[in-house]
Amino acid sequence: MSLPFNVASHLDTVLRSAAGQLGLLERGFQPEVRVADPANGDFQANGALAFAKREKQNPRALAQQIVDQLGALKAHFDITLAGPGFINFRLQPPALLDWLQTYDSETHLQSGAASARQNQTWIVDYSSPNTAKQMHVGHLRSAVIGEAICRLLAFSGAKVIRDNHIGDWGTQFGKLIWAYKRHLNPATLAAEPLEEFERLYKLGNNAAEADPAVLTEAQQELVKLQGGDAENRAIWQKINDVSLAAFQLIYDQLGIRFDATLGESFYNDKVERIYRELTDCGLAEESQGALVVFHPEHPRFKTQPFIIRKKDGAANYASSDLATVLHRFEHFKVDGAAYVIDFRQSDHMDQLFLTAKKWFEKTGRKLPQLEHVDFGTVLGENNKPLKTREGENIRLKDLLNEARERAFALVSSKNPDFPEAERRAIADLVGVASVQYADLSQNRSSDYVFAWDKMISLEGNTAAYLLYAVSRVRSIFRKAGLDPAHPPVAGATAPETAQELALARKLVKFSDAVQLATNTLRPHFLGLYLYELASEFSTFYAADKVIVDDPAVKARRLLLCHRTLTVLETGLHLLGLRTDLERM
Ligand code: ARG
Repeated sequence: MSLPFNVASHLDTVLRSAAGQLGLLERGFQPEVRVADPANGDFQANGALAFAKREKQNPRALAQQIVDQLGALKAHFDITLAGPGFINFRLQPPALLDWLQTYDSETHLQSGAASARQNQTWIVDYSSPNTAKQMHVGHLRSAVIGEAICRLLAFSGAKVIRDNHIGDWGTQFGKLIWAYKRHLNPATLAAEPLEEFERLYKLGNNAAEADPAVLTEAQQELVKLQGGDAENRAIWQKINDVSLAAFQLIYDQLGIRFDATLGESFYNDKVERIYRELTDCGLAEESQGALVVFHPEHPRFKTQPFIIRKKDGAANYASSDLATVLHRFEHFKVDGAAYVIDFRQSDHMDQLFLTAKKWFEKTGRKLPQLEHVDFGTVLGENNKPLKTREGENIRLKDLLNEARERAFALVSSKNPDFPEAERRAIADLVGVASVQYADLSQNRSSDYVFAWDKMISLEGNTAAYLLYAVSRVRSIFRKAGLDPAHPPVAGATAPETAQELALARKLVKFSDAVQLATNTLRPHFLGLYLYELASEFSTFYAADKVIVDDPAVKARRLLLCHRTLTVLETGLHLLGLRTDLERM
């Protein structure tokens, strides 16, 4: 019998059934299987300890009782008791070989990666910038983390809808349209549209501040837009179309393609129903002319209400977000929604989720699982939010260009003899990947310091280090005249040397890293695993020559190389990185 893809959850199942036979399960026994410190084994089950303490039993004796039930596992594992009642499992080399032979491609790895979210539908709300403005460095994290989360969820079997909830319906359009009608520069509009919109907005804003008559005119433009005036609608449409086309240039570089772009304007005609429903079910009330929801049980939101309609009767961020929850529930029938949004919007998200929970309860609907996938700020090396020297926000476009240039310098210094076009192509890939990975290798809830020299480097937990490992495996195949798509691994024997074994053991734990990253919606767990895998590979490669005369040894080493390549690439793809490079 072959080992399943996720060895830890297999152990969990077997331990549960053993505990069931001993009558421990109904008394609350949990196996608590986790990846072990390599010194102790591959996996360990810690559950006997807490359970025995609670039941006032001897933990070691209890663990032994469980182990006595695990006869069938001994075909694959060495099982030992350690300390006061830990059960350690070490995979035997033939079992490692068996796993490696089975999971031979990205598709096979995926087919094994079932999760609790299998067959669920998830919508991921990410990137979501405001239109008529450039994307700047503050927009990087949502896009990069959001894409990784989409890919992780899809890999685990969920149906994923990628939704760009753009801010395309704000009061800024009054001033912008006012200036557009009077001061548009068609040449800049064609060449640098977002810069032109930003210039026009600033111009309109300054003019309105200086002259109350302009302010009134701008307000009238907004009222006309909201009332459906054809000319203003057309200008607004043009601004949004052009903005989205410019955003797409960034998304293309980051490998992002949305299924839906339903921004705030889409919910414009859906907010009346929200006011009505929330009022009818007794959640919303009038307060100082606005429509608000108080949460009396909450320390802050009992006095600081969720404003869902402004004093002037206009909809706001909250009303459109409530309409969005309903639409995702009714139209997309989602089981879950992940909001990849800056931690600074936590209060808004908490109030939104709390309000939605009560509203759905009162109206007899089943609330989808709502998750705020928060993230910290991108800091400069001075530990303050990253800005240009002049104190301006750094445009994402410029940042990605600089990444490519810096990667080009790195690639050129390492491989001065590669043709320039090839160095450019490698640098395009490595530069963007470095920016993505610098973000994804950090726990997203923390701030992180954006340091070029650290992130575009072949040392440390960087994209270049991981991509270098990928290219190294490819070059082993290339130099031996072998096709990595069809590795000659027939006749491979089980791993034997310490380095072969360590690498094989690491490969088997890919599924645990994916599962952890997916369950917590924290991609850095996968990043860390890939880094450790690449380091294991480099130790193996330094110690054990791959292309040797003995055909069985050669086959098993090629097998290890090939599976390392497959797992590294699968993992990097899950993080949203490209890996299509032959050498670097
Ligand atoms: N446009 C918003 C901003 O730039 C982000 C929207 C996030 N999504 C949401 N459903 N609120 O801050």
